[in-house]
Amino acid sequence: MKEIINVEMRTRQADFAKCETDLLAVGLFSDVKGLDKLNAELNKKLDGAIERLIALGDFKGKEGTNAIIYTDGKIGAKRLMLVGLGEKGKPPVKPGAKYLAPHFTRGSLDTVRKAAANAANKAVAANMPTVSLALHRAFGGRFDLSVMGRAMAEGAYFGSFRYDEYVTESEEPRLAALKVEVIDADPAKAKELDAGVANGIIIGRAQSCARTLTNRPANVISPAKLAATAEELTRGLKNLSCTVLDDEQLAAQGMGGLLAVGSGSQNKPRLIVLKYAPSTKGAGRQPKVALVGKAITFDSGGISIKPAADMDEMKLDKTGGIAVLSTMKALAELKPALNVLGVIPSAENLPSGTSYRPGDIITTYSGKTVEVLNTDAEGRMILCDALAYAVKQKCDIIIDIATLTGACMVALGTYMAGLFGNDEKLLKQLQRAAEESGEKVWPMPSTDEYAAEMKSKIADLKNIGSKWGGACTGAAFLKQFVGEAKWAHLDIAGVDIFKTATEYTAEGSSGFGVRLLTTFLMQLADRST
Ligand code: BES
Ligand code: MN
Ligand code: ZN
Repeated sequence: MKEIINVEMRTRQADFAKCETDLLAVGLFSDVKGLDKLNAELNKKLDGAIERLIALGDFKGKEGTNAIIYTDGKIGAKRLMLVGLGEKGKPPVKPGAKYLAPHFTRGSLDTVRKAAANAANKAVAANMPTVSLALHRAFGGRFDLSVMGRAMAEGAYFGSFRYDEYVTESEEPRLAALKVEVIDADPAKAKELDAGVANGIIIGRAQSCARTLTNRPANVISPAKLAATAEELTRGLKNLSCTVLDDEQLAAQGMGGLLAVGSGSQNKPRLIVLKYAPSTKGAGRQPKVALVGKAITFDSGGISIKPAADMDEMKLDKTGGIAVLSTMKALAELKPALNVLGVIPSAENLPSGTSYRPGDIITTYSGKTVEVLNTDAEGRMILCDALAYAVKQKCDIIIDIATLTGACMVALGTYMAGLFGNDEKLLKQLQRAAEESGEKVWPMPSTDEYAAEMKSKIADLKNIGSKWGGACTGAAFLKQFVGEAKWAHLDIAGVDIFKTATEYTAEGSSGFGVRLLTTFLMQLADRST
């Protein structure tokens, strides 16, 4: 898919002071006294400009801030950007070893990523076509260079992202192309960085693709259009295939949940199935992983209609499905030794004379019957069919990702996704992937008490529980459709959107899930080879 801003990214061996660029970005911690080696060198070449800026109190190294120094030809870069990294804190413990570790926020890998995002965001905002990143230098040996390279690449895509494909009248033309490079003077270090940058480019582009697709409104992306886009993205690829079931095929298969949710709209539902299989022979022995993503192209609530305020945001109710699609696209390029199935149920939830109603009893793909008590609890109605489909395909590990419940946003706010599941090891692995990817998760319960609330007298289960713990009942509903598989559920209702632009990125879809899922799968592939 065409990127809205064409980002060209690379790694280069270059002398920091000589590097010719519009913007050279270096990092500074707020609690580190004195300048590190690189900054001291640049400060000297700039006749003490960095020290003067700090002495004047114009830059304190606070996270999310930056300051620009005009270099007057004293170094190769036209501008030097000091990017605040916040407190350095203590060196992190072994990744994943201790969950509630301070590096969850301070001096973490996400600090590297955010710093790159901050610089790239600024470059687009101020129309600077070339950016050189040397942000890894401030971290010394805290992280592997390749890991930092990846974080910088991901950050550069994240920060430079814009969504304006339908803006035809703008006051100022926006930068159409951005060249970003990660530089180091030492050729061996540049090489190490590049190993990560290469993966970061793939992941960053996949995330931008996710954000573009998700931001597209429901009159542009219907379930059929999403399916066509998936087919287009996989066309010609040897290791990634795509099959789509239309409404007639769904009826023949007995996907009652997905059909019920889609029944109110003229835009008929689809099930998009993607298969990634690497050419390496070893992958045959790997556990088969399924990624299942909710793709409601618009959620009005249906007959149990939602209030009008902010209803437009429900075009983002396809975030999970698109995260799966974009992750699958990234896998085709990252080529891990794993077999992965992507299952994306897609429908539009609208009220009409043909809609499913409260009181309806639906026979789902698994054979279980569901009494519908609220048509706005539609996510679980489409996911239960998709989960049962993944079980039928004999997947050992199933991870679903969905903007499932407003209750999850009430519980966790907008910073992290709810993480549910039935397997401790899988949950730990996802927590580790969250730390590395910066897409945070927090563990939540889905024990039998929650499932008990959804027992129905006239069907196998109801589609809602009591007033309380809605995120947990949502998860407990899904849990009943995963059979013996190891399963995890990510409720991303709170993290799918940036309500306003931040110092790191533009407003709108966050693309949440692409970094988390690709990181998880890469780690899983590494461990089992
Ligand atoms: N898509 C919504 C959840 C949502 C809410 C996502 C806010 C993003 C922001 C979901 O389909 C929904 O409507 N859930 C209901 C469930 C309830 C009826 C049990 C909810 O959260 O109110
Ligand atoms: Mn809903
Ligand atoms: Zn929904």
